[in-house]
Amino acid sequence: MRKPVMAGNWKMNKTRDEALQFIYAVSDKLPSLDKLDSIVCAPAIILRDLVKRQGDSLKIGAQNVHFAESGAYTGEISPVMLASTGVEYVIIGHSERRSYFAETDETVNLKAKAALDHGLKPIICCGETLEERENGSTNEVLKRQITKALDGLTSDDLKNVIIAYEPVWAIGTGKVASSEVADEACGYIRGLVQGIYSSRTASNLRILYGGSMSPKNVSELMAQPNIDGGLVGGASLNPESFLELCNKAVQD
Ligand code: 13P
Repeated sequence: MRKPVMAGNWKMNKTRDEALQFIYAVSDKLPSLDKLDSIVCAPAIILRDLVKRQGDSLKIGAQNVHFAESGAYTGEISPVMLASTGVEYVIIGHSERRSYFAETDETVNLKAKAALDHGLKPIICCGETLEERENGSTNEVLKRQITKALDGLTSDDLKNVIIAYEPVWAIGTGKVASSEVADEACGYIRGLVQGIYSSRTASNLRILYGGSMSPKNVSELMAQPNIDGGLVGGASLNPESFLELCNKAVQD
């Protein structure tokens, strides 16, 4: 049995005060850790403040990491620095980073390895654009992204990896993938992992759906056999909505 995950990706939102208010509003109302991994991935500048106040049921993640331990990379944050804040997770290869900040399959792979080397658990994102879906290359894109992202990772590493399938056309658009389309893609990813590793590794891997997930559609999406949770942008910003997502994620 895979433990479900509900991860909020706040993107470039929330000041320190707003983030702390959120944490205080949700921390004693979340499902317990044995039922759900509830995560918020926050801007780096406030991670330490959140870690100090995360409580028993909330986990904290970052939204990006550099692959080098230190060096002349102005403005970047190394895995050593991130680990020192006490965060547990880090999103890697989000489509916004791929399209606005020149993230490639190669840097995604380097970052995933660097995160794991420093005890951070990567949430590796993949997903096709609208054009790629319409021209029938979704599986080809997912295969390339996943194969490259996982290159050199061992099956032991995979125990600490989460994959998020986020079709680019569904992100921030209000156009959620149907549960069948989302499940088919997540199932395809699971099959790829089975081919690279083993059926045991694949069946233990948690795969999330992301893209306009909300309290309205979370139950149907999570009822799908290959979807183990969500990576949620807009609907994770409001504490009531995040709580609703988390509570629905643990309902049968
Ligand atoms: P939305 O939930 O706002 O569509 O964003 C999804 C996302 O990009 C999460 O990483």
